[in-house]
Formats: sequence, structure tokens, C-alpha cells
Amino acid sequence: MKKDFLSIADLSTKAIWEIFAVAKKLKKELKAKGVHEPLLKGKSLALIFEKQSLRTRISFEIGMAQLGGNTVYLDPRDTGIGVREEDKDVAKVIGSMADIIAIRNHNHALLVLYAKYADIPVINALSDIEHPCQALTDLFTIWEVKNKLQGLKIAYVGDGDNNVAHSLCIGSVMFGATFACASPKGFWMNQGIVDKVKALQRIFNNWQRPRQKVKWLKNECSSITETINPKEAVKNADVVVTDTWVSMGDTDKEERVKIFQEYQVNSALMKLAKKDAIFMHCLPAYRGKEVTPEVIDGQQSVVFQEAENRLHVQKALLLFLLKGKLL
Ligand code: CP
Ligand code: NVA
Repeated sequence: MKKDFLSIADLSTKAIWEIFAVAKKLKKELKAKGVHEPLLKGKSLALIFEKQSLRTRISFEIGMAQLGGNTVYLDPRDTGIGVREEDKDVAKVIGSMADIIAIRNHNHALLVLYAKYADIPVINALSDIEHPCQALTDLFTIWEVKNKLQGLKIAYVGDGDNNVAHSLCIGSVMFGATFACASPKGFWMNQGIVDKVKALQRIFNNWQRPRQKVKWLKNECSSITETINPKEAVKNADVVVTDTWVSMGDTDKEERVKIFQEYQVNSALMKLAKKDAIFMHCLPAYRGKEVTPEVIDGQQSVVFQEAENRLHVQKALLLFLLKGKLL
């Protein structure tokens, strides 16, 4: 049966650990030899992007090329997707020619529709609700730096009702980390996501825990907290994360910039986190808004390692979805 990746919760924790192991191997191989075996020779990835992108698009395009496959970039302005014909017909047609689809759009429900009508895997390349490719990479990057995920405190400061926050929150719970989210009133995480996280928490904190090969430490179950106080969220955090205050599709830019003033990640806020805490941002970043230059360009920032890892992690994801069995 085909696998889709619309939410980070579509993969099991075990599958994600396998993807991380392959991503690590691919990263090492690329740095050492500059090339990979053409493991995806003859495979085609269709990219449907209704919103702008740098990292997601180039990591998928370059990643497929490095694995011997190819990509077809479908700009809705050329193809008329969403205007010229019904989406279910588009999904069926692409599904009959390509091997996998990645979609970035404004409406998560449309991704669900594509997954229903296309007989091939569908990847969420960012929707209004989730950004699972980013969360997968962020967790990999944290694991690379901290050598563990379980028991860590991941603090997210800014717009909680945000695709990046949602996927990272779900992913944190899947790995036994604590997710603390600080946002102004009215910008807390989507209730549907919080409900999903609570259901996952029950699973991961209870019955699935003893089945994991990973050794779980006592009293280090996952938890999530939401607060209006950034200091409370960041206190003793291992990882501090933020994202733009104005996501693609948000129309109330000026109002948001005023509302989020107290949620800037600056040196004073970073001092409340652990001494060895890292700073993460999916990029694009707006210096002087959600983060100061001292933080994003400072010693604790891993934002460019995080950006580069999109390439390695998504190659492993493509292998997992297209071949099932990994290396
Ligand atoms: N972080 C991220 O998804 O970047 P792009 O919007 O440039 O793809
Ligand atoms: N939350 C941002 C992420 C960009 C990668 C947006 O949706 O615009």
C-alpha cells in the first residue's frame, strides 16, 4: 500500500529513526564521495508549488537528481491546476505518470484530496496546517547536535497557530521531548493539532514506550505546554525555535508585527535557556522581527546546518516512500 506524508504523525517513530539513519549515511557519503548510487533511477517527482519556496524546492530537486531520479516542477500559473480542471482529475493524471508528488499549498484539505485520488505517495511540502518535512529535518538536526531527543525541552516562541510549530509539536511528542509553546492570546496552536498531540501522547507515554528499542528514561515522557509567557517557555530549554510572525497567506502583517513584539528571540531570552541550548529557525528569517541578528548569526544558531539537512533528510524520506525498504 502506498504511504503518504501529509503529517509527521503519518510515520511511526521507528520509521523516522530509520529515515534518520539513512539521512546520516547519505550525508556522510555525499561529503566523502560527492555522489550516490542512482537508487531512484527512472523515478519522477512532481512538484506542485502554489506558494514561494527556496529550501523545499531545491532540496527536492537536487535530492532527486543526486539519487538518479528526476523532477517536474508544475507552476499552477502554467498548468491551470485548481482553475482549469477539477483537482481530483489532476491527481489521477499525475498519479498515472509520476511516481511521487510533493505539494505546497494554502489548503491542507486539498492535500488530503490528492492523497485520495492519486495512486502514488503524496508529500506535504507545507500547507496552512503542517510542515512535516521541516519538522523531520529539525528533529534530525537536534539529534545530530544533542545526540538524543528524549527528555529534551524544545521551546517554540512566536506564532503558535503555525505550520512549523504544529509539526514540531507533534514530532516532539513522538520522541518523548517536551514542547513548550509561547504565543500571544489568539495565536495558540490549532485545537485539532492539540487534540492529535494529546492522543499521540497517550500512545507514546503508555503502551508504545516499552516496545521501543530506544531506551526510555524514567520520568522523561513527552509533554506539551502552551503559555503567553516566552520566558516561561524558554526557561531551561535545550532548543529554542521561532518562525516568521507573518506566514505566507497571512494578510494582517502590520497588526501581527505589533502583537508579536514581546515574542522576539533575543540574547536576553536565550540566556534563560540552558547554556548549551541551540537556536533554530526554518528560514526565511526576518532579522529584527522574530529574531535578532546576534542570535541568528551567533554561536548558538544552527540554522544553516538545519537548512542543509533538508537535502539529506528528504532524500531518505523519498527512498522510504518510494522503495519502502531503506538502504
Ligand atoms: N523552510 C522552508 O520550507 O523554506 P522554503 O519556504 O524556502 O521552502
Ligand atoms: N510558517 C512559514 C514557514 C515558511 C517556510 C510560512 O508558512 O510561510
